Amino acid sequence: MLGATTRDLFLLQQDAVFLNHGSFGAVPKPVREAQQRWRDIVETQPDVFFRETIYTATRASAERIGAFAGAPGDSLVFLPNVTETVAVVLDAMRFKRGDEIVLLDVAYSAVRRAVDVTCQRTGAVLRVVPTALQMTPEGYAEGLRAALNPNTRLVLLDHIVSPTAQLVPIETLVPIAKAAGARVFIDGAHALGQLPLNIAALGADWYTTNAHKWLFTPRGCCILYTAPEMQELTRPVIVSHYYMDGYPRCFDYVGTRDVTAYLSAADGADFVESLGFDAITAHRTALIAHADAALSQMGATLVTPHAPGLAAWALPMTRPADAIDARAFMGMYWNDYRIQFASNAVDGRLLLRLSLQIYNDTADIDLLIEKLQRLGWAGQIEGT
Ligand SMILES: Cc1ncc(COP(=O)(O)O)c(C=O)c1O
Repeated sequence: MLGATTRDLFLLQQDAVFLNHGSFGAVPKPVREAQQRWRDIVETQPDVFFRETIYTATRASAERIGAFAGAPGDSLVFLPNVTETVAVVLDAMRFKRGDEIVLLDVAYSAVRRAVDVTCQRTGAVLRVVPTALQMTPEGYAEGLRAALNPNTRLVLLDHIVSPTAQLVPIETLVPIAKAAGARVFIDGAHALGQLPLNIAALGADWYTTNAHKWLFTPRGCCILYTAPEMQELTRPVIVSHYYMDGYPRCFDYVGTRDVTAYLSAADGADFVESLGFDAITAHRTALIAHADAALSQMGATLVTPHAPGLAAWALPMTRPADAIDARAFMGMYWNDYRIQFASNAVDGRLLLRLSLQIYNDTADIDLLIEKLQRLGWAGQIEGT
């Protein structure tokens, strides 16, 4: 049974409603226990762990995630997070002056910052694809085509957009970018465990996804897929013993660090499968529909197309919203009412973003709606 009955598996504060799993994740008991078992193995004989076990255990975990997400195990490496993975891919591209990088306007802000810094350092040029809060596959395709030219070397696309929760039709966009001669890197930070994945079949050069969000893995666990053609150039940003040893070996030991989150990824996949991927998706989808029925009555507009477990609504405002409005809105509902959601301002619209997870049920949504109806938000249109 999904919903409030699963809440005891998590350490989440009991007197609160959590509707923002997607930002930082939450780890259920069986996965926390799996990580503790790995920590105990490390503590029992650190030499054996760091001289032998780490390599076999990391590869076994990669095989398990590969089977779950549709990629050969030896095409996958572990990194702490998407932010670090972006640095790896930007480094592998060896940009020079005049090369062009294409990015969506709603790309994650840390990713945009990394691309801006790369452009400053190398003389590469950023081209931004404009998007809107209601998109179609054709709209994305047109925007991408308009940004491509013979200088385009890298197209970096979100699979699920962080601030807007939009699901980007990468199956359509990857072939367009490849046909233009560009390398393609997909930022699927929110994908693993939320979307059914067949990573290798997408045809991208790189695909990255966090396990510590929707796969319930402990934090600091991200996967990078690299297509065979790009493996020779893909190296960790930190140089360690095995830097020259080729892919994936060069990523399997990058100095002494806690890799137990990487090794618990298999347990995250087991946890999802024990509950049933389709059952989880149906639960999340039903909660989004429940929220949408109430929010649309309040004049809010669902941003589309949205992901199966993550959705955002544009709230009616008398004036353009900015980042301060979004922070104040999110802060007030946590500080005063112990309800955690995410909020962002995009194109002057105030967005309410909900992550719907196995531990949520309709009572969580109903409480949020009741508070929104009574207390509203700064800049709200009277009577909405
Ligand atoms: C689309 C996207 N890219 C990148 C990131 C960064 O992930 P991390 O904090 O794990 O580096 C996030 C985090 O939410 C994201 O949503």
